[in-house]
Amino acid sequence: MSDLFARSSADAPDGAPDGPAAGSGTQEAGRAAPPVADALRHRHLLGLSDYAADEIRLLLSTAREMRAVLDRPIKRVPSLRGVTAVNLFFESSTRTRLSFELAEKRLSADVVSFSSVGSSVSKGETLKDTARNIEAMRVDLAVIRHQSAGAAQFLSRCIDGIVVNAGDGQHEHPTQALLDALTMAGLDVPDAPGLAQFDFRGLRVAIIGDIQHSRVARSNLYALTRLGAEVTVCGPRTMMPVGIEQYGVRVTDRLDEALEGAHIVMALRIQLERQEGGKANLLPSLREYHARYGIRMEHLDRYPDLTVMHPGPINHGVELAGDVADSDRSVILDQVTNGVAVRMAVLYLLTGGPVDEG
Ligand code: CP
Repeated sequence: MSDLFARSSADAPDGAPDGPAAGSGTQEAGRAAPPVADALRHRHLLGLSDYAADEIRLLLSTAREMRAVLDRPIKRVPSLRGVTAVNLFFESSTRTRLSFELAEKRLSADVVSFSSVGSSVSKGETLKDTARNIEAMRVDLAVIRHQSAGAAQFLSRCIDGIVVNAGDGQHEHPTQALLDALTMAGLDVPDAPGLAQFDFRGLRVAIIGDIQHSRVARSNLYALTRLGAEVTVCGPRTMMPVGIEQYGVRVTDRLDEALEGAHIVMALRIQLERQEGGKANLLPSLREYHARYGIRMEHLDRYPDLTVMHPGPINHGVELAGDVADSDRSVILDQVTNGVAVRMAVLYLLTGGPVDEG
């Protein structure tokens, strides 16, 4: 597929270039710019656990260039022309699904989307059989969201095409963590002067809530610690995985301890669907959770430098008070905008030059 990227901009509609100049970035005065990979060393994006910092920076710097494409009057480049992408959504999604579809279309791929509701999955078809059928249709690229951890990796063993994990059970949600990092890199944090070059040293991030069930938290822990951020995780002990300290993070069950000195608070959704019986049985009640861990205006008043993030969907009045989500201290909708750019970057780089299996 690499010949796609060799096309001249004369092939592009209305003279749009083929794609961004990957790996660009300026150097902060007095601080060496951190290394950025020339290309990804992976064939798939199954998670960030084995992505090194320079690869994450390549993805982020490419996503920043894609943001510029999205700000143009004509938001389309021909990078994935001739590539067929299939979006396999076995679990509900609004943001991830729409933004992958948009990203694929902005890159000129041929796109088909599949949702398990209304498909032969409801007749008992297995993931393996679904994958075999996709393979028979000669698909180049598959994006998968699934309720089971490991589904993306399983799919990558069943098909020849490139696989991108759009969230698998409690395991990982790598593109969410990348869009979160891109959003953070756009903030003005004097303590972290290298932020714009994806050097997160000096940045303090508090992740609050249901860490145990959160694939968003897991992918963020990999990305943020690799980029150099200091991360504190906070939530009820019943929602804190054993051994979480091994990620190199600070752990507390006291909200104020987590927020003190933090530049960013990332509130996570309480995932009732991942608790037994679909009920809040790891908490006394959602009301009590909000009282102890919900981010409210009083917190924004107490910590005036704090920026609020949330991956969505939000349980208003549980992890965030409604006025906090809508306040000018929230960058939640910037996260959504960055989601399209990040997914364009992931698809562009993965189709542009696979090197190693993985
Ligand atoms: N953040 C996120 O994954 O949202 P969706 O479930 O709507 O895709």
